[in-house]
Amino acid sequence: MSSDKKEVDCGRRNLVFATAAVGGVATVATAVPFLASMAPSERAKAAGAPVEADIGKLAPGEMMRVEWRGKPVWILRRTPEMLASLKQVADQVADPDSKRPNQPDYIKGEARAIKPEYLVVVGICSHLGCSPTDKFQTGAASGIDDKWPGGFLCPCHGSTFDLSGRVYKSKPAPDNLEVPPHYYLSDTRILIGEDNKA
Ligand code: FES
Repeated sequence: MSSDKKEVDCGRRNLVFATAAVGGVATVATAVPFLASMAPSERAKAAGAPVEADIGKLAPGEMMRVEWRGKPVWILRRTPEMLASLKQVADQVADPDSKRPNQPDYIKGEARAIKPEYLVVVGICSHLGCSPTDKFQTGAASGIDDKWPGGFLCPCHGSTFDLSGRVYKSKPAPDNLEVPPHYYLSDTRILIGEDNKA
């Protein structure tokens, strides 16, 4: 698909992602002289370098965003109510146990997280790559439906995801949102882009 087509399909949301992608290209372009001075192993490491996120100030119900490899990564601190909603929608999501391989082996269960309180996902829709919008308000106030328990909406073609990034059934997006490799450096710091080798 051409980038023009993608922009038409995804509208304003895609611009956000396109900006991020352009930023990524610019970074690569300006980084070349620097990278060229590195040994091949150092260059490969810098291009895919993990990023550290400080979650110390994240309040329950809040979400922060970091960029990793030019992609938006969301970290959502879920409340007990948010976590409880995951069971309620289990029969409405397409892949409740995340059987399709878009998450590391150590991510299991409905929470799709190392620590259930913190969801870490790549904020890119598995349909055509738009970035979904958070819809944490519940019920009719969400503008989705009266029973909406909170989650994410992709504005491009209407895919909806629960608070674990699991896609609802019969939506254009085929898969749940990706969980990137990550681990906790401490209670308040997460390293995104690397598995814990310890
Ligand atoms: S890109 Fe089409 S529904 Fe998300």
